[in-house]
Amino acid sequence: MLKVGLLGAGRIAGVHATAISSHPGSTLAAVSDFYPENAEKLAAQYGSVARTTEEIIADDSIDAVLIATSTDTHSDLIEAATQAGKAVLCEKPVDLSLERARACQTATATTGKPVMIGFNRRFDPNFGAMKAALKAGDIGKPELLSITSFDPAPPPVAYVKVSGGLFRDMMIHDFDMANFMMGEPPVWVMAAGSSIVDPEIGAAGDVDTAVVTMTYADGRIAVIKNSRRAVYGYDQRVELLGSEGLLQAQNMLENTVVKSTTAGVTGAKPTYFFLERYMPSYAAEWAAFMEAISGGGALPVTLDDGIAALAMAEAATQSRKTGAPVRLADV
Ligand SMILES: NC(=O)c1ccc[n+]([C@@H]2O[C@H](COP(=O)([O-])OP(=O)(O)OC[C@H]3O[C@@H](n4cnc5c(N)ncnc54)[C@H](O)[C@@H]3O)[C@@H](O)[C@H]2O)c1
Repeated sequence: MLKVGLLGAGRIAGVHATAISSHPGSTLAAVSDFYPENAEKLAAQYGSVARTTEEIIADDSIDAVLIATSTDTHSDLIEAATQAGKAVLCEKPVDLSLERARACQTATATTGKPVMIGFNRRFDPNFGAMKAALKAGDIGKPELLSITSFDPAPPPVAYVKVSGGLFRDMMIHDFDMANFMMGEPPVWVMAAGSSIVDPEIGAAGDVDTAVVTMTYADGRIAVIKNSRRAVYGYDQRVELLGSEGLLQAQNMLENTVVKSTTAGVTGAKPTYFFLERYMPSYAAEWAAFMEAISGGGALPVTLDDGIAALAMAEAATQSRKTGAPVRLADV
């Protein structure tokens, strides 16, 4: 039985606590949080105990940690946990700073311990089926990827200020999805962004509406569209045009009822947000981590993947500021 320490007891940690406790091969040994009462509350729900982050990392009987703390702590905790001999699954992004993330990669490589980054969308059954069809050659050679990713409503400005910005915090998932589908990072990244949903987001130095265009060495193109506001719900669609056809992953809806009357044809809205839309993916992500570390197989998402997506976010951030395309190799 793999003994797991959960670092962080916030919003996403609750989802991971369920996945760890539900898996037959893992047990939630302890939970920590900067605010001990948060850790105690979450631990109590799963028959676990609250401890400090330092105690969990120093405990040799704990085999692995899941890092679900605020983004600015990720690199420090990845380093500390791997140096203490633990396997790690860390939430995205690896860090707010690409430079810091690369230093973390170097430090972690010397430990030889596995580090997986929590790009849960790779484990969504819809995107998984799309990737399988692509690999099977069903649409020939992929040529044009289009990712739509709209949140239902913007986060509080206090969150925006510590998030690292839309490209590092939100679009990071889409950068990784592009790498997952295209099989490699692009050569060029070009971004446009504005704050038309909430001017306060602009005043905080961020954007809430953005489009990124990416071009690949062989001429393929990918487009990512993000907005912090879609009044009809969480809009998550991926479309891939290939030489022999088209693949489309549509939204998950609240129900499948379609009403047809003389007034028209209507259906349900998309599910509200990521907890509703992606819940199965978090359990599948944990199962994939467990399989890789217990069977000694390759991790399905690596620290390198986390850094590749962060480099694209950095390139997009630079491009949005200057208005010029940025060569990924230059960031
Ligand atoms: N993959 C996804 O779908 C997804 C969804 C949401 C959030 N996230 C990521 O997960 C991370 C957490 O996000 P959240 O929304 O749960 O935030 P949150 O603010 O709800 O929770 C973070 C928690 O970490 C705690 N914390 C900070 N430093 C700590 C430390 N050193 N030790 C222990 N606890 C510490 C905070 O007190 C807080 O309770 C972020 O990096 C975010 O980008 C990923």
